[in-house]
Amino acid sequence: MLKPKVEKILNEQIKKEGYSSFLYLSMASWAESKGMPGIAQWLFAQAEEEKMHMLKFVDYINERGGRAIIPALDKAPENWKDVFVIFDEVLEHEKYISASINDILALAVKENDFATQNWIQWFVTEQVEEESSVQLVIDKLNLLGKHNLYMFDRDIMGLRTAE
Ligand code: FEO
Repeated sequence: MLKPKVEKILNEQIKKEGYSSFLYLSMASWAESKGMPGIAQWLFAQAEEEKMHMLKFVDYINERGGRAIIPALDKAPENWKDVFVIFDEVLEHEKYISASINDILALAVKENDFATQNWIQWFVTEQVEEESSVQLVIDKLNLLGKHNLYMFDRDIMGLRTAE
């Protein structure tokens, strides 16, 4: 059985992962409408992964005898200045998510919830990969510069998202 505090923080993460999915979906739609199909494809794939993350929390809470609550999501932004701003925002958002995953682990330790400590490790590893895959994209983007966005857009098509 999940302790109430752990159930609460896991439920809060459902909302964060759901918002991540909608944020990246909104970015993907923006990129597609601006004629950047490679960037859109990468962001659509990222949005799918976030949905999968959200569902993992739903499954886990219910499996442990808690109750996963499906929340209303805040509206994601719909416009960005350029792709540089987009990927900087993705990285900042992933750092925020990493911090909240760490908070879950810290609480699970404090509450002696060994199962949750074990289960959340997958996300700890996943966040390292997510941050590094976004950093790779930012490095490429900076390398190519704003005059080579067409090339960047082709190039990112071959890049995998984290998981
Ligand atoms: Fe589900 Fe990108 O963190």
